[in-house]
Amino acid sequence: MSISAHGGILINRELQKRDRENTLSKAKSLKSLTISAWALSDLELIGIGGFSPLAGFMGQKDYESVVHNTRLADGTVWSVPITLSVSHEEAENYQIGDEIALKGEDGVIYGTLHLEDKYDYDKKVEAEKVYGTTEEAHAGVKKLYERGDIYLGGPITLLNRPDHGDFNDFYMDPSETREMFANLGWKTVVGFQTRNPVHRAHEYIQKCALEAVDGLLLNPLVGETKSDDIPADVRMESYQVILKNYYPEDRTRLVIYPAAMRYAGPKEAILHAIVRKNYGCTHFIVGRDHAGVGDYYGTYEAQDFITQFEDELGIQIFKFEHAFYCKKCGNMASAKTCPHDKSEHVHLSGTKVRELLRNGERPPKEFSRPEVADVLIKGMQPV
Ligand code: ADX
Repeated sequence: MSISAHGGILINRELQKRDRENTLSKAKSLKSLTISAWALSDLELIGIGGFSPLAGFMGQKDYESVVHNTRLADGTVWSVPITLSVSHEEAENYQIGDEIALKGEDGVIYGTLHLEDKYDYDKKVEAEKVYGTTEEAHAGVKKLYERGDIYLGGPITLLNRPDHGDFNDFYMDPSETREMFANLGWKTVVGFQTRNPVHRAHEYIQKCALEAVDGLLLNPLVGETKSDDIPADVRMESYQVILKNYYPEDRTRLVIYPAAMRYAGPKEAILHAIVRKNYGCTHFIVGRDHAGVGDYYGTYEAQDFITQFEDELGIQIFKFEHAFYCKKCGNMASAKTCPHDKSEHVHLSGTKVRELLRNGERPPKEFSRPEVADVLIKGMQPV
């Protein structure tokens, strides 16, 4: 028996065949709204069930409840608002009860929204409660402050899935990953979220987890990230290289997670776990400063926070201490397993690593596999 989707049922809001064609042709004469790439990725994830039990963009009741109580209005654990924002002027075009065609920036109609709720919200409160700070220097908060002042809520339909270009080969929806795990005979699967290339510390914690479960779903986030993160196409190449050279083929799969990164630390860790549960993972890794940015969150704040909800989430959380290479041990370790002084540990900041790569230099092999470093060096050269 596979793990249940969050809230019990895997949502599917995607219309098929005749339903889809009829709705698409009607949608052409509906009022329309052009949505951002971020909102489009949310629309897709709602539509394919990645955000189960959500069936649409949140109305005010769910929104307030999520922001203040980390739960939907019905009590189900949910940590990050999934909302559709518009400006005051745009909001005036739509009345409750309207069907709205949702267009991408490319003019394609990707879905519809049945407008049930239209409400204003306090960005500072959302920032403080969800991101733990109101500072604009925080990448997620900055995005929030740039959004329209009104949220539109209501159920959606998905009429077209966005094209993932070069990543299409690595695209699967939750029903497909669930089927794949069953076909592979994996009863237990650990999901791994990342917005970075896989370095030795990532590899170590993934493999520690893999010692205890049947399979690993490497599930990198490829939606919007901040500009100084390594671009998704470069990362995707690096994942393929590391899997090919260092991972057992029959126990690992690479599938994209097409969401935008919020950098909401502890709250986003819960969202990440819920989504991987929907994709059929039984376990999820939360390491040091999961989904963090700058110094906004404590090293283990995401782990401590998710622990409070673990029983209700149903997906088991593998929590890992900060991992590093220890020269004295001659292997990867953490404070739990290494008795040596910090001076023996290989530590490199993200800034330092990016600087090395930009200069065409490989970081030490204790930090990054040389094959991965070479892909990153190539990808980070100015064009
Ligand atoms: S993020 O999506 O969580 O921001 P990142 O690539 O930095 O991506 O981390 C992916 C996962 O690996 C997270 O669970 C994070 O906590 C964990 N992680 C990253 N580096 C380390 C490390 N050195 N030791 C332990 N866990 C780590």
